[in-house]
Amino acid sequence: MTRPASHILAVAALAVAIPGGVLAWSDQPVKPDAEHPQVPVGYEEDGQYFTEDGIPTYQIDDDGTVDWLTFSGFRRYHAECHVCHGPDGEGSTYAPKIKNSAVNMDYYDFYDVVVNGRQNGNSVMPHFGDNPNVMCYLNDIYVYLKARGMDAVPRGRPPQKDAKSDTIAEMENACMG
Ligand code: HEC
Repeated sequence: MTRPASHILAVAALAVAIPGGVLAWSDQPVKPDAEHPQVPVGYEEDGQYFTEDGIPTYQIDDDGTVDWLTFSGFRRYHAECHVCHGPDGEGSTYAPKIKNSAVNMDYYDFYDVVVNGRQNGNSVMPHFGDNPNVMCYLNDIYVYLKARGMDAVPRGRPPQKDAKSDTIAEMENACMG
């Protein structure tokens, strides 16, 4: 169960070529009805949900119960990211609406920006690659934001959640050290 750690290493080692106009990710509107290959659940593994391609994704029940990672992501996002990116991923005058970015950006590009940071003139996204409070929970933050971008969860704290699986707890302990 080394999935998050291996993702971190793999992504940190990549020098991802950022395509021109990358700042538009957050500006592109999300149409929840359109096809989003990085959204539908392909399989579940010990309380974590993945697309067919193994990209972490969210799972929301009809009664609004969210999977553990989505709930955890809500908390972690509001601890580490919302001061700049605004509550619920809605963006601010200072930093982009990353609930849209989580849908529009490739997962690995999203990871790369958080690990390495990004600067565009005075607009600075800090790097978090050495911050375990972010890196150990980046899948959580990512799936939460993707659920927000797709309007799968409303703004605010998700009222009902799945329990944290033993596997998720073990991975968290291993990552936090
Ligand atoms: C100190 C303010 C600040 C904090 C804290 C911050 N960001 Fe950012 N972030 C920015 C700014 C500013 C940009 C735009 C950078 C640019 O113009 O290239 C950005 C850009 C991004 C992007 C790229 C968006 C796109 O559409 O291209 C992602 C993804 C991102 N941030 C994720 C996060 C996550 C996840 C967190 C919390 C772990 C976080 N940020 C915390 C300021 C911040």
